[in-house]
Amino acid sequence: MEILQIEGGSPLEGRVVIGGAKNAALPACIASLLTDEPIILRRVPRLRDVSMILFTLGTMGKRAVRDDRGVIISSSGRLSHEANAYAVQQMRASFLVLGPLIARLGRAVVPLPGGCRLGARPIDLHLMALRALGASIEERCGAVHARAERLRGARIEFPFPSVGATEQVLMAASLAEGETVLENASIEPEVIDLIALLRRMGAEIEVVERTMRISGRERLGGAEHRLIPDRHEAGTFLLAGAATGGSVTAVGADASTLGAFLDALRETGASVESDAESIRVEAAGRPCPVDLVTSPHPGFPTDLQPQFAAYLSLASGRSHVRETIFESRFAYAEGLCVLGTRVLRDGDTLSIEGVDTLHGGRVQAPDIRGGAALVIAGLAARGVTTIGQLVHLDRGYGDLVQKLEGLGASIERRTDA
Ligand code: UD1
Repeated sequence: MEILQIEGGSPLEGRVVIGGAKNAALPACIASLLTDEPIILRRVPRLRDVSMILFTLGTMGKRAVRDDRGVIISSSGRLSHEANAYAVQQMRASFLVLGPLIARLGRAVVPLPGGCRLGARPIDLHLMALRALGASIEERCGAVHARAERLRGARIEFPFPSVGATEQVLMAASLAEGETVLENASIEPEVIDLIALLRRMGAEIEVVERTMRISGRERLGGAEHRLIPDRHEAGTFLLAGAATGGSVTAVGADASTLGAFLDALRETGASVESDAESIRVEAAGRPCPVDLVTSPHPGFPTDLQPQFAAYLSLASGRSHVRETIFESRFAYAEGLCVLGTRVLRDGDTLSIEGVDTLHGGRVQAPDIRGGAALVIAGLAARGVTTIGQLVHLDRGYGDLVQKLEGLGASIERRTDA
């Protein structure tokens, strides 16, 4: 088993270059199913999840070639209407192939999705929306079987602004007949980035607050698109800098996508500065305790909640962290306790009593962001921390060890004896 071994307790200092956003890369790759022409994506992060989605597309008649600047996805034969079960079960985002396949081929068979275990994570909104667009859908033998001669525009209102279901509608409705109006859509930066790509492919999409108006097209064409920087990676490195009492500059990060997160960081007393190209944080002693509540963008992002909780472990008082998006996103708390955090869970809220110092220990990454929280705690802790189950970190963080070493961390990846 491979582990990360961290000798913590020293401040991180320096600059780290932020890669392209994982959560923008996955739907962007899938959007290639909407056309036979090439899709050229720039700033594509080298991550396990991206390789997995490209593998899935490969099994469906697409060919992806990586070069130094990104990925070119072109057609290599007839598109298959069946998605590879292994890939979809590994990663929930691959379920997004459903809408594009129905729109292009009139039918699709897609296994029920997997991914991080963050609670129930149902797909009811995806299916409700595709049914509203005219697809007939059945769930049989662990897969969704869908058919539609031609999708037709419709008025859809989500009870909750789901990221994935919004992306599903945007892609399917772009090739539907007539206009679709989607109310209460997700406006996460990664969704807006998908819209930018779809517009380049010829889609007509208007966004006013949480209402999206999509005029369907007969066909979409190829496009070239540079993905937005990964706000979750940027936030993770900034928190690692702050938690270790250091100073880190996230180069290429976009502060406009991190408003609520940066406000919370400032509230802890850390100094935060940003310009068009970077965000810099400098710690100022122990963080002040804060109360956080996750919510859809522009609220505090659930994907930075575990890492922030790790940072608040060292606060000079009691903080509360409330998770409203996923019901099981506190799996990392057990690992934090091993490293000395004093934390109590009450339903959807963690109460964190800050301690003066954390200490090293042996822990396992429970999921992508929970794993990142343990890395931050390990970097801040005195002594040696080992983290197992690196498969989770590999899904979301490219070159993690090299980037942290560049900031002065003592960290190594090795096989556990
Ligand atoms: C995406 C992100 C993930 C992030 C999440 C919330 C990707 C690849 N993943 O996940 O990193 O944490 O947004 O910002 O972009 N829900 C339903 N029915 C549905 C769909 C969702 O009830 O049909 C619920 C889920 O159970 C969850 C909540 O809505 O409680 C949020 O899910 P959603 O916004 O869809 O997240 P994902 O697209 O899965």
